[in-house]
Amino acid sequence: MPQAAAAIEGGHIFVLGIDVGTGGARAIVIDGSGRVLSSATEEHQPFASPQIGWAEQHPEDWWRAFCIAVRKAIANSNLSAEDIACVGFSGQMHGAVMLDEQGSVVRPALIWCDVRTEKQCRDLTAKIGRERLIQLTCNPALANFTLTKLLWVRENEPENWKRVRAVMLPKDYVRFRLTGERATDMTDASGTLLLDVAHRRWSQEILQAAEIDERLLPFLHESPSVCGKVSSKGAAETGLRAGTPVVAGAGDQAAGATGMGIVAAGTVSATIGTSGVVFAATDRPSLDARGRVHTFCHAIPGRWHVMGVTQAAGLSLRWFRDTLATNSSGVRESYDQLTAEAAKVPAGSDGLLWTPYLMGERTPHLDSNARGALVGLTASHTRAHAVRAILEGVAFSLRDTFTLFREMNVPVTSIRLGGGGARSPLWRQIQADVYGHTVEIVEAEEGAAYGAAILAGVGAGLWPSVDAACHTTVRVASRVNPQPAAVATLNTSYSAYRRVYPATREIFTPH
Ligand code: XUL
Repeated sequence: MPQAAAAIEGGHIFVLGIDVGTGGARAIVIDGSGRVLSSATEEHQPFASPQIGWAEQHPEDWWRAFCIAVRKAIANSNLSAEDIACVGFSGQMHGAVMLDEQGSVVRPALIWCDVRTEKQCRDLTAKIGRERLIQLTCNPALANFTLTKLLWVRENEPENWKRVRAVMLPKDYVRFRLTGERATDMTDASGTLLLDVAHRRWSQEILQAAEIDERLLPFLHESPSVCGKVSSKGAAETGLRAGTPVVAGAGDQAAGATGMGIVAAGTVSATIGTSGVVFAATDRPSLDARGRVHTFCHAIPGRWHVMGVTQAAGLSLRWFRDTLATNSSGVRESYDQLTAEAAKVPAGSDGLLWTPYLMGERTPHLDSNARGALVGLTASHTRAHAVRAILEGVAFSLRDTFTLFREMNVPVTSIRLGGGGARSPLWRQIQADVYGHTVEIVEAEEGAAYGAAILAGVGAGLWPSVDAACHTTVRVASRVNPQPAAVATLNTSYSAYRRVYPATREIFTPH
């Protein structure tokens, strides 16, 4: 009997979930009740931004951090590698990893928040037609999406492009190092602009129009499907058992949503990590004709999702802390200190507004040239006002997606919070007040790694389906209700916030 099956029969089954994020790699071990036995994180080198709008990371660094995080998570769980029945992956989406004939990285990966490819988006849209692109892939050409990054490399670095023999997404590079397999899943493939999202297959028409050889692409699998096993080389580097099965997993947003139980229509999550995402599960591809939200496959076979993305959500607060919030000895303030100060400022930040467009913006503007702004400053405003305005501005940006969901008739019956925005009591309350809706916090707020572990559990046969897994493992720990007075004030602030971008857009549009 294979080891994993023996573990299930004995009732002791443990699975490992991984998230290859932007800031670091995270590994967690869970058991059959969804309890987290251990977790470990190893930071990545921050992304390099050699020019405005560029963002690059070294895939080898993800592998280094992954190996450390996996070893630590297993050691902290007091289990042995033999006890891990399956491994599930999640990771930052949209990145372009390019490998040569030998499987070596050709150049640093252009990652999700890199927006240098405006020209390639324009060319592709002109060639295929905007409507046809949306018909084929459910999405318009955006600078974040992988295909546009490949086209940039082909046009600007022909010597590098000539050497490319395989293209993959960030988590799939780590999978490749662990198993030797070139594989991806439907959710992550959705963010490449190469997938026929409605039919869950690579789009031949897009491949032809973009002149990309399908042989460069990984094989497609549904998220909970086993698609390989740990190789002996992968085992030697990570300490995992050679032969451990690996499921396809999901892009970080679909995995994070799975980990919060966002699997059926009506439940919606609002996650504030580096980026900010409002995510709804749907029974069929649900489209915005202008492509202001992404329509992607979900981690459940036969289901899809829509999501709106704020490029710089948590990044807004990190940017403020790192560049403007140093104390008198030159030491960075902690987030707790900054939010404690901001909690003393009234809702509405005494008229100060923040638009979080530090890396351009996706939802709702689809504008790489959008810029961040602190608007309405007076001599009475303090640092605490600026922090509160940032927390509110990020929540306003996420509310823009709820506004679009209403237009699209996407139902919202419950809202669950994820990421750093779920951990800060002040940001939780601000979100409840800005959305005008009760928000829920789940017990195991472990992010995408938790969803990846759930997918691994389904792959290992621990649960019969992703729905059943979520039913067993995801529990609501607390709820925060909106406060009527703050809701009224923030409704007025939101109307003012909505006027900032149209009023300032011209200043930053290149002529
Ligand atoms: C989603 C997106 C980000 C990245 C980084 O579309 O771009 O959430 O996946 O986490």
